[in-house]
Amino acid sequence: MTDPTSQNQDLDRSRGQARGIVFVAGPLPASALERLEEGPLEVVQAGAGTTGPLFHAVCAQIVALVPLLTTRIDAALLAHCPRLRLVANVAVGVDNIDRVACRERGVTVTNTPDVLTEATADLAFALLLSAARRVGEAERHLRQKGFPPWSPSFMMGKRVAGATLGIVGLGRIGRAVAQRAHGFRMNVLYTQRTRLSMADEEAADVTYRPFGGLLAQSDFVSLHVPLTTGTRHLIGARELSLMKPGSVLVNTARGAVVDEGALVHALADGPLFAAGLDVYEHEPQVHPGLLALENVVLSPHIGSAEPDTRKAMAMLAAENVLSFLRGEGPLTPVG
Ligand code: NAP
Ligand code: GLV
Repeated sequence: MTDPTSQNQDLDRSRGQARGIVFVAGPLPASALERLEEGPLEVVQAGAGTTGPLFHAVCAQIVALVPLLTTRIDAALLAHCPRLRLVANVAVGVDNIDRVACRERGVTVTNTPDVLTEATADLAFALLLSAARRVGEAERHLRQKGFPPWSPSFMMGKRVAGATLGIVGLGRIGRAVAQRAHGFRMNVLYTQRTRLSMADEEAADVTYRPFGGLLAQSDFVSLHVPLTTGTRHLIGARELSLMKPGSVLVNTARGAVVDEGALVHALADGPLFAAGLDVYEHEPQVHPGLLALENVVLSPHIGSAEPDTRKAMAMLAAENVLSFLRGEGPLTPVG
């Protein structure tokens, strides 16, 4: 494997040119890199992703590209990679990839579903609890101002047990969040384009509501839709105004599903009590209005940040590459 940190980045170019290259656009667990090296192609790993000199040196030979969610795969990049046939994203969300441009060039796209569902649902629930019970704000108070005198009205939060949770997008992660909510005896509503059968709703113990009704009736709203043209700013000023006074918004989906400017207003002036966010409209930037508010818990896109999950994501991306190169088709293609 070509090591981007090594002084000697002397690729075996003749081998690469003849057979093509698997380009890994960022750090991956060693186990996944070792697995990729069992395949037929040269593996080139670049810490600088697709922006560094290494990418430009080898792009004409890349057959399979393994991006992280921060790597943009657009038409301009694809134009540099005439031999590219597979993009194996190390993420379940594929909004970093121009799928239309990939389709036009005959490039298959895969992602990493399922393996990160539980970790991401855990984080969504952690944000829900932290936002409801003001955990971040209370910790900041303790660290910055010391232990406060005990008072019956200090840091009053919002009750979670028995409250109503509205899930927007009852897919893999949405369902895993619903399971956690049932442990807190929450009443779980859901909305999405495809309503489940009555039997499936009963089995999952969830109740369907149209989007507006869910916003109006939920004490907590948790977002679990992919970012698409249909979900960009799904939550804007109008939708926030429909939310229950004193409710909490949790977003572990993608930042641009929410209009961040409108969210700042809804947190500062109502109707929201608080928000818990893992994702941001313009990552790595965070809206300064959010940073200035006490009633929002902010984590830096760590939904899947747990070692076994990250290893499983990288390994699934590697297996997608190997299966594709064997001619058996990818394991988890994005439709
Ligand atoms: P999934 O199983 O595909 O679920 C997505 C759900 O969204 C489906 O139930 C889908 O139902 C619904 N949906 C899609 N478009 C919609 C629309 N326009 N309006 C309403 N509902 C819509 O995906 P997943 O595995 O749960 O992952 C969801 C997303 O979470 C990913 O795409 C990714 O962006 C994000 N994520 C973030 C982290 C993190 O680190 N924070 C980690 C993992 C995933 P219908 O098709 O019936 O509408
Ligand atoms: C993380 O955000 C993912 O989509 O896997």
